[in-house]
Amino acid sequence: MSQDTVTLIDNATGKKYEFPVQHGTEGPRIIDIRKLYAETGMFTHDPGFTSTSSCESQITYIDGDKGLLMHRGYAIEDLAEHSDFMEVCYVLLHGELPTVEQKNTFVSHVTNHTMVHEQMFNFYRGFRRDAHPMAIVCGVVGAMSAFYHDSTDIRDDRQREVATFRLIAKMPTIVANAYKYSIGQPFQYPDNSLSYAANFLQMCFQVPAEKYVVNDAVARAMDKIFILHADHEQNASTSTVRLAGSSGANPFACIAAGVASLWGPAHGGANEAVLNMLQEIGDKSNIEKFIAKAKDKDDPFRLMGFGHRVYKNTDPRANVLRGSCHEVLEKLGVNDPLLELAMELERIALEDEYFVERKLFPNVDFYSGIILKAIGFPTSMFTCLFALARTVGWISQWKEMIEEPGQKIGRPRQLYTGYNKREYILLNQR
Ligand code: SDX
Repeated sequence: MSQDTVTLIDNATGKKYEFPVQHGTEGPRIIDIRKLYAETGMFTHDPGFTSTSSCESQITYIDGDKGLLMHRGYAIEDLAEHSDFMEVCYVLLHGELPTVEQKNTFVSHVTNHTMVHEQMFNFYRGFRRDAHPMAIVCGVVGAMSAFYHDSTDIRDDRQREVATFRLIAKMPTIVANAYKYSIGQPFQYPDNSLSYAANFLQMCFQVPAEKYVVNDAVARAMDKIFILHADHEQNASTSTVRLAGSSGANPFACIAAGVASLWGPAHGGANEAVLNMLQEIGDKSNIEKFIAKAKDKDDPFRLMGFGHRVYKNTDPRANVLRGSCHEVLEKLGVNDPLLELAMELERIALEDEYFVERKLFPNVDFYSGIILKAIGFPTSMFTCLFALARTVGWISQWKEMIEEPGQKIGRPRQLYTGYNKREYILLNQR
């Protein structure tokens, strides 16, 4: 990797410091400040990590100005068009498109891990029926480390591989049964004769009394939604997984931490918030009022599904999902006025100076909920589906970190603005 340098001049002391600059294969030049504190006694301060690279990675790259997203060099549009989710999982984990034999072997490993330990269903029964499915998923994923203790030694290659297959394979079973529990229906088991997406759909919508026939168009749409949510550089939940993993925590605990972080409405929780927002807007005549609320600095309301820390051009995933919306609703014969409302909201927002000036475009969450609603999921399940898909991204990034030579525990410092040291005052003297 070619390097040059930058010079820092401390105007308080006149001292000059030189730091190496690193060039990735894509992206901005990076100032390597690993020796900054040792040489200058100073920290950098970047609370939202808007200008900070936290790691070196070869998995995913986003160019926010170009609206580019690629996994191992393959554009998301090509993967969404030509691959299925299992193939994208292989690309994220192993770095290359699989041969037919490699893909069949990978799919076979995943398929043979779809069932969960029967006692895990006892965990579900401990939750109230009205528990948010994300609360159940967060708890049950963390509990996996109690049931699959034989794949928690992170220094053992084989155990890391088994934990990876278990997480990718069991998330659909865990998520589908969080849905079943929340609607009072009996738990469903995997059907290993089906594809990953079709198996998930049957676990969600099959009931003992009736055979559920998977609609191929719906299964393809579900698979495409999984592909579009699989990984996304060092977003909040992936950074959470990396930081948790840096301490040596087992992979199941780390993924549970990722699920927790994804739940926030500023992150993966936005898909649920978008549908709730569209339902609250209700009619095109109310759009202007909500646009005004989103622009009002005194109003905490934000237009859910709009804006992104990195994309300052369109989110390529939103473009793919917009197309899928029309395709799925047409194939299902669903005429959801919320789709019309969403497209009118997008049109009006993208003509408004506030959104144009701040480069606020629809993101992945803006259209996904409309498709998920058409398939039959309640909004409370939307973020669970995001977590299901993102598990392969989380575990790929975790694996990359664990296998990195010289990997260290993540331990940020701070800008302290609290009290200086002061005398303690005994209770009877206060
Ligand atoms: C995901 O990081 C990832 O990669 C995430 C993700 C992934 O795949 O992992 O892509 C998935 O999380 C997508 C984002 C889903 N979240 C939402 O849709 C929630 C609504 N969006 C916003 O909360 C916001 O846009 C964020 C959180 C997504 C990004 O926030 P930033 O980068 O911190 O931007 P900011 O808050 O500094 O906003 C810059 C300006 C501000 O106005 P000014 O102070 O300059 O006047 O834009 C405004 C903000 O008020 N703004 C919005 C807005 N988003 C930003 N104003 C109204 N509505 C919005 N949605």
